[in-house]
Amino acid sequence: MKVALGCDHGGYLLKQDVIDTVTSLGHEPVDLGTCDLEPVDYVDFAVKVAEAVVSGAADLGILTCGTGIGMSIAANKVPGAYAARAEECYSARMAREHNGANILCIGGRTTGPELVREAIAAFLTAQPSAEERHARRRGKIKALEGRD
Ligand code: RB5
Repeated sequence: MKVALGCDHGGYLLKQDVIDTVTSLGHEPVDLGTCDLEPVDYVDFAVKVAEAVVSGAADLGILTCGTGIGMSIAANKVPGAYAARAEECYSARMAREHNGANILCIGGRTTGPELVREAIAAFLTAQPSAEERHARRRGKIKALEGRD
């Protein structure tokens, strides 16, 4: 799978770990920046990754900033992007299986490398559940995108 990656300065060091993790799991990281510790606006990188995922240029995305919160709020403004901040294995799996998340958001200042590795592995392995109740709920979320 192609996995689009993006970060701001607060998530830059974590993104370097994420590149290693994605690669070691047999996937292809597509690094959309930022590429150093200079302060940038997380919104710009959230949009790059969300658009890559929604367009099909990448299968899934992973965003890192200081907390993962700004990235998730911004990415979710792109229709078709479902970004979830999840920093441990169970939440990351549920985000994908139940909620159909296609972007995982993680904080570079709020978690640790082992939890992140497990969360990424869970996110990239899980599939959206085909169970009717979960599909129905995801459909209701998608329907919200057409509203002003
Ligand atoms: C940048 O200092 C910080 O606000 C950003 O990385 C992120 O945590 C926002 O949600």
